[in-house]
Amino acid sequence: MKKVSLTGIKPTGILHIGNYFGAIKPALNLAKDYDARYFIADYHALNTMKDPKELASNIREVAAGWLAAGLDPEKVIFYRQSSVPETFELSTMLMAFTSKGLMNRAHAYKAAVQENSEKGEDPDAGVNMGLFTYPVLMAADILLFDSDVVPVGKDQVQHIEMAQDIAQAVNFNYKEEVLKIPRAAVQDSVAVVPGLDGRKMSKSYNNTIPVFTPEKQLRKLIMRIVTNSQAVEEPKDPETSQIYLLYALFASQDEQAALASRYRQGGMGWGEAKEELFRVVNRELSPLRERFEAIMADPAALDKILEQGAEKARPIARATLKRLRKAAGIDP
Ligand code: TRP
Repeated sequence: MKKVSLTGIKPTGILHIGNYFGAIKPALNLAKDYDARYFIADYHALNTMKDPKELASNIREVAAGWLAAGLDPEKVIFYRQSSVPETFELSTMLMAFTSKGLMNRAHAYKAAVQENSEKGEDPDAGVNMGLFTYPVLMAADILLFDSDVVPVGKDQVQHIEMAQDIAQAVNFNYKEEVLKIPRAAVQDSVAVVPGLDGRKMSKSYNNTIPVFTPEKQLRKLIMRIVTNSQAVEEPKDPETSQIYLLYALFASQDEQAALASRYRQGGMGWGEAKEELFRVVNRELSPLRERFEAIMADPAALDKILEQGAEKARPIARATLKRLRKAAGIDP
């Protein structure tokens, strides 16, 4: 039997090329060798997103984005978290095995508390129970599907460790392996994708290049990349230029070598380098953009894909839940 790869995608913003190289491509690669279960973590997003229109459109856009990027819903079980209510039943059961102290140590909660104390506010100001218990819901997402590996970014590793701790507490109590212990798959080979300002590309820095932005806008964003003031004639160092680092993600080996040598010779200005970058980015993204627009034009078909995914997911979920309820003495 193939091993299971599972990950959740929080629909809190539109997809940018940092997500594309850091999360989407590696997860789709894993899906070639694993039984993949990828889902839209809409209840996780609810903690921070209270505008219904915005949340609804993010859910669709993020789902369409993964499909446009090549997720095959025939091969990957692709669903909305909210369409698999077993998740929330498992989450409630896991609460009984999760110490409050464990949640107190979660990075996101600790950061919120620290920010509050720095501002002289109540430590828990603005912290809802969804944020506080976030790792339990995430553990339920993972443990429900007997996941072997969970492809995530470094920032999520603590959450996977908490899922392991919670699963171990359950297994220890019932003296059997009721829940499978998952492990994180962190892609450390993936280069940090630089943003428009040279810092890591991130929604919170407002320096992103969205994957599905129209061609004109894409060009504008690329032209906006911050550079130093070296003149056209001066030789330039590819390794310290974010134009080049971005280029390397989209270009072939030969193209990379050619651009690097033009940089080193001098005579190539930043404007020309940006044109060359735009060319390769647009070459990779235009077919994705076309698929994305086609998917977004038919929301009913998209919802159907997600519903069919949930229908495949629920029997697996029910089996896990039954196992745990039986072990717990709550089997009707
Ligand atoms: N917490 C993850 C993030 O912020 C999203 C997520 C929710 C997730 N449930 C998950 C990731 C389960 C992996 C597995 O990106």
